[in-house]
Amino acid sequence: GLPARVRIHEVGPRDGLQNEKALVPVAIKAEFIRRLAEAGLTTIEATSFVHPKWVPQLADAEELMPLIDDVAARLPVLVPNERGLDRALALGAREIAVFASATESFAKANLNRTVDGALEMFEPVVAKAKDAGVAVRGYLSMCFGDPWEEQVPISQTVSVSRRLLDMGCDEISLGDTIGVATPGHVRELLATLNEAGVANDRLAVHFHDTYGQALANTLAALQHGVTTVDASAGGLGGCPYAKSATGNLATEDLVWMLDGLGIETGVDIGRLTATSVWMARHLGRPSPSRTVRALSQK
Ligand code: HMG
Ligand code: MG
Repeated sequence: GLPARVRIHEVGPRDGLQNEKALVPVAIKAEFIRRLAEAGLTTIEATSFVHPKWVPQLADAEELMPLIDDVAARLPVLVPNERGLDRALALGAREIAVFASATESFAKANLNRTVDGALEMFEPVVAKAKDAGVAVRGYLSMCFGDPWEEQVPISQTVSVSRRLLDMGCDEISLGDTIGVATPGHVRELLATLNEAGVANDRLAVHFHDTYGQALANTLAALQHGVTTVDASAGGLGGCPYAKSATGNLATEDLVWMLDGLGIETGVDIGRLTATSVWMARHLGRPSPSRTVRALSQK
């Protein structure tokens, strides 16, 4: 069966904008987040407290946070290490995400660490965040494939997921960073995670749409019992440290499907589409989302 309700974890302002060539002014970012909340999104990943040279697009995190402190939504931020956590806590962040990799190649490219080295870096971050009453999400990238490594064994993904949960992460977001997953692979990974004691309510799915499979993969995850889905307004996004990563599953494409299935999200697709059209104008290119294009041409 399918769930009655799905929680959408909106990643457009973070995963989306981190990969845009254009530097978006901080006031536009704040307005984007405000409009997403007004469209009914209840979790909006706002920015990253990473090294500003690694992701210059999000180097304005300190300026952004005070502009959105009255937005009525959960506003998680990405944090790689204690330096990032301190910056986030100083600005009142109530929710953070650390981001691990299932593969050595991507751990090196994205975090300049081994898989183990990255987990060691996160341990004190998660502990300190939990002490401060801050919720922690653990992203796990390259769960289904990696641009540098042929295959990513399911056992490897399951083992890093377990370690993230054991160190105190509240939720794991399974990332198909380069968009190569297909529904059978999704079902197999979720079943193996369940066998390893990871319940569906601790899991989220994070699909990129490179091969046009994001929605099919999402449906497979929903049928399996997962109820938290990551998506990016207008299909913005990618990852600057993963060649061949394109945008995330577009939030509008997701909401169109869920509306049709009678699954509640609380999102108003008209307001959301208007927001993505507005953002696309600022970015100077049309949204890649089919749903945004269809609805905005009506
Ligand atoms: P490093 O070069 O190993 O850093 O990078 P370090 O620990 O050696 O520190 C070097 C210098 O950086 C020091 O300064 C630190 O203070 C400073 P110095 O003493 O030389 O003057 N520094 C910082 N400054 C500000 N904020 C910080 C910070 N940390 C260190 N937080 C590091 C290691 C983790 C910092 C770096 O690799 C990094 O920032 N990586 C971030 C990459 C990133 O953001 N990628 C995109 C997000 S992941 C993603 O998109 C995937 C996802 O969507 C899921 C999916 O699709 O799979 C989540
Ligand atoms: Mg991503």
